[in-house]
Amino acid sequence: MTPSDVPEVARIETTAFSTPWSEETFNSLLKRSGVELWVAEWGDELAAYAILWKVLDEGELANIAVRCDLRGRGIGSGLLSRMLEVAEDSGVRSLYLEVRESNGLAREMYARRGFHEIGVRKGYYEGPREDARVLKKSLAGA
Ligand SMILES: CC(C)(COP(=O)(O)OP(=O)(O)OC[C@H]1O[C@@H](n2cnc3c(N)ncnc32)[C@H](O)[C@@H]1OP(=O)(O)O)[C@@H](O)C(=O)NCCC(=O)NCCS
Repeated sequence: MTPSDVPEVARIETTAFSTPWSEETFNSLLKRSGVELWVAEWGDELAAYAILWKVLDEGELANIAVRCDLRGRGIGSGLLSRMLEVAEDSGVRSLYLEVRESNGLAREMYARRGFHEIGVRKGYYEGPREDARVLKKSLAGA
């Protein structure tokens, strides 16, 4: 992700999440160390993005979303695979994420990639209020 991608990333974010991050948030993340921000392109269009935080050998997949009209074409799955490589290459050994209880498609995608549930955060999400499932995947690390 580069600064010129941010307006489109923020637009996708507003369609994907009920409490979206702002352009300002993405721009400030681009300046921080320990954060990996990636985009996936479909032809010459920005189709998806993902964000990974890293602290020592732990990481969190903070965000992944695909443009609504391009979903179901393997883009999310492909970007997730790439993020797993990025995490592993940068020494992450334990990768975490949170997902809405009702987000069956994402939960299945994560399960197929070897994430398993380690906990529940009660009422974690707003709009609508819902529990988060906390998932973890162990990686080999660099
Ligand atoms: C979740 C999300 C990132 C998936 O991206 P996508 O490009 O639409 O998904 P893909 O086409 O790569 O499909 C993902 C998996 O679901 C399967 N799948 C896709 N559409 C499906 C459908 N209608 N029914 C059943 N399975 C389906 C695919 O076969 C694929 O399987 P794989 O993991 O074994 O490869 C996307 O739907 C999205 O942006 N959702 C909104 C934001 C969000 O929920 N992010 C996750 C927050 S934790």
